[in-house]
Amino acid sequence: MDKKAVRPQAHKEAAGAHKQAQSDGANAGESSERIDAKERLIVALDFPSAERAMGLVNRLDGCCRWFKVGMELYYAAGNRVIEGLRERGYEVFLDLKLHDIPNTVAGAVRSVAGVGASLLSVHASGGEQMMRAAAHAASAPGAPKLLAVTVLTSMDTAELRAVGVSGSANELHSQVLRLARLAQTAGIDGLVCSSEEVEAVRAAMGPDMKLVVPGIRPAGSAGRRDDQKRVASATDAIARGASMLVVGRPITQAADPAKVAAGILAEIAASHS
Ligand code: C5P
Repeated sequence: MDKKAVRPQAHKEAAGAHKQAQSDGANAGESSERIDAKERLIVALDFPSAERAMGLVNRLDGCCRWFKVGMELYYAAGNRVIEGLRERGYEVFLDLKLHDIPNTVAGAVRSVAGVGASLLSVHASGGEQMMRAAAHAASAPGAPKLLAVTVLTSMDTAELRAVGVSGSANELHSQVLRLARLAQTAGIDGLVCSSEEVEAVRAAMGPDMKLVVPGIRPAGSAGRRDDQKRVASATDAIARGASMLVVGRPITQAADPAKVAAGILAEIAASHS
């Protein structure tokens, strides 16, 4: 897909982000481009305690708007950390990657629905019925929007084959698209996929599906991957159709987290200015 094809979504989200910022006054005085970039970066707070997580939030000093609370932090700190972030005006992606029988997942969605997260993840490989049950539970007022995780960015074709997904050399792509279509059919609001598939997923899903891409590494980070297999720069991921990017260790383990975050925000702003 060419860059033009993702423009309508970029402009739509820019308008939405600007309206939101105007309505809460949180970013008064900043350019709409800057606000738009902030709406597209989610910093993953992968820490073992609320204290460590909030320490990083303080160091970022208001330069980011979205934070991701994953299993490590949520199991250690619970709702308290989400409430703390909300009180300070941040948006929260609760990345619990729910994967169980439909009744249990629907119950889990109901249990966290009122906590204040804006996004909540489920595993698309839990199947259509599980995702339908989750979507139904998330239709209550105030509940988070749901994202379905397709194939983890830490997996490559060999690992996928080892868990029984086999076929053509292109099986990773096919599996991501298969799960994306299943999630769309089940009424899920958005998807998590890697930068390698996001262009094909955007083309298949159309401009309105929210596509969240983890495995982002800052331009010039010399091939740093950690445990991620499918990685890209923010510039590439946005150009291929990503709505939002998730960045963890490149920011959280940096000597100067705010500087790295600012660099990624600048990459995002430049990629659709
Ligand atoms: O540190 P790093 O930038 O690799 O962190 C990526 C974050 O995105 C982690 O919190 C991880 O749980 C999350 N994630 C992912 N791949 C997915 C879904 C979420 O890496 N498919």
